[in-house]
Amino acid sequence: MLLKIFAVFLLLLVAVLAVFYYLIFLKPRVRAKLDFDPEYEKERAANYPPPYPNGWFSLCSSDQVKKGQVIQVDALGQKFAVFRGENGVVGVMDVYCPHLNANLSNGKVKGNHLVCPFHAWEFDANGQCAHIPYCDKIPPQAAAKTWTIKENWGLVLVWYHAEGEAPSWHTDGYLKELEQYKFHSKTSDVLRIHLQDFAENGADYAHFSYVHNLITIPLFKELVNVKHQVEITFSEGHEKHMASFTNIADLAWKHNDQIIPHAGGKAVVTFYGPGFLVFQFSTKVGNMLLVKTFTPLGLLKVRMDDYVYAPKGTWNLAIKYLLGEASAQFHDDINIWEQKNFATKPLLVKGDGPIIKMRQWYSQFYTPSSYIIQQQPATANVTPEPVEVVRSN
Ligand code: FES
Ligand SMILES: [Fe+2]
Repeated sequence: MLLKIFAVFLLLLVAVLAVFYYLIFLKPRVRAKLDFDPEYEKERAANYPPPYPNGWFSLCSSDQVKKGQVIQVDALGQKFAVFRGENGVVGVMDVYCPHLNANLSNGKVKGNHLVCPFHAWEFDANGQCAHIPYCDKIPPQAAAKTWTIKENWGLVLVWYHAEGEAPSWHTDGYLKELEQYKFHSKTSDVLRIHLQDFAENGADYAHFSYVHNLITIPLFKELVNVKHQVEITFSEGHEKHMASFTNIADLAWKHNDQIIPHAGGKAVVTFYGPGFLVFQFSTKVGNMLLVKTFTPLGLLKVRMDDYVYAPKGTWNLAIKYLLGEASAQFHDDINIWEQKNFATKPLLVKGDGPIIKMRQWYSQFYTPSSYIIQQQPATANVTPEPVEVVRSN
C-alpha cells in the first residue's frame, strides 16, 4: 500500500516537474504577430530619427559565409555581396557589378576572387577587377564599390557612415572574455522598430516597474515582483560611442515587499555605438553574455540577432532559464515599441530617467546626410517575421 502511495506521489511529482519544464523552457516565446497598415507605418516612421545611424553593424555571422561562398545581404538601404576567398579573407561589395550591373551574389568564388555570373569579370576582396577573360586591358576604374569591414566576435561587421567618412572608432580590443566563453546559441528576429527605441529603453527608468515587474516562472509570478535599480553612464572622449547601463533586479514578495535573498541578478549592458550592445548577466544560477546586434533594414525595420555565450561549465539549464527570462522581457518591450510613435517633445517628469541625455548621446550617430537619406522612398517590408532559432549547440 505504502509503495503504491509512493509510486503515485512520484508520478505526480514527475508530471508537475514536466509541466514546469514545459512552461519555463519549452513554451514558445514567439512574439505576437501584428497586422500593420503600410500607410500608417510610413507616417509612424516620419516622426522617428533617420533610419541609418553611423557606426559598425553586423551584416551576418562569420559562419554564414564560408570559404568559397558568396551571399547577398540587404541592410542599411544597400545590397551587399559578401564573399570569402580561399585565403579566408572576406570581401564586401555592392551587389551590382560595375560592368553591366549583374548581381554579383549569383556569381561564384574562384580562389580569392568573386566572379560575376554575366561576363565572368573577377574582383578581389578590395573590389578591384583582377581579370577580364576576353580583354587584356583592365580599365583602372573597373572596380566594385566596397565597404570597410572587420571580422570580430564571429561577426562580419560593416562600417556605415552617411557622409562616407572613415571609421571614427574600431571594434578591436573589446569583448576579450568571448575567448574564454562557450558559444551557446543564436536567434534572429526582424522587428518593426527604430533602433534608437532600444537605447532609450535603458534610460527610461520609470517603465521598469510596469513593463518588467514580473518573472516568467508560473505561480511564482503571482507571489513575487521584480524590483529594479537602474543607472546609466555615457562615455566621453575617444570612447564617446559607448554607454553603459546597469540594472540590479531583485525579487520581492508581493505581500510584504521583502527582498528574497540571493534570488536576483545583475545585468550590465554596454552599448558600442548604435549597432550592437552586450549584456553581461550575473546571477546565483550562473553567468551569461549576450551580444545583441541591430542591423537596420529600412524604415522601422531592424534585424536583431542575439548571440549567447556563457563561461565554460555553466549549467545548460541555467543559461536556458536566463535566456528565457531575458527574451520574455525584450518581447514585452518590443510589443510596446512596435505600436508606439516617436515623441519628438516628450512630456517628462521627475523619475522618468535621463531620456533627453540619451537622445543627446545618440545624436552623435546622425550627420546631415542621415536626414537626406531619411527622405528617400521607404523600402520597408511591413510584415514582421517570427523568431527563428538559427543555430544552437
Ligand atoms: S555584368 Fe558583371 S561582368 Fe558583366
Ligand atoms: Fe524595457
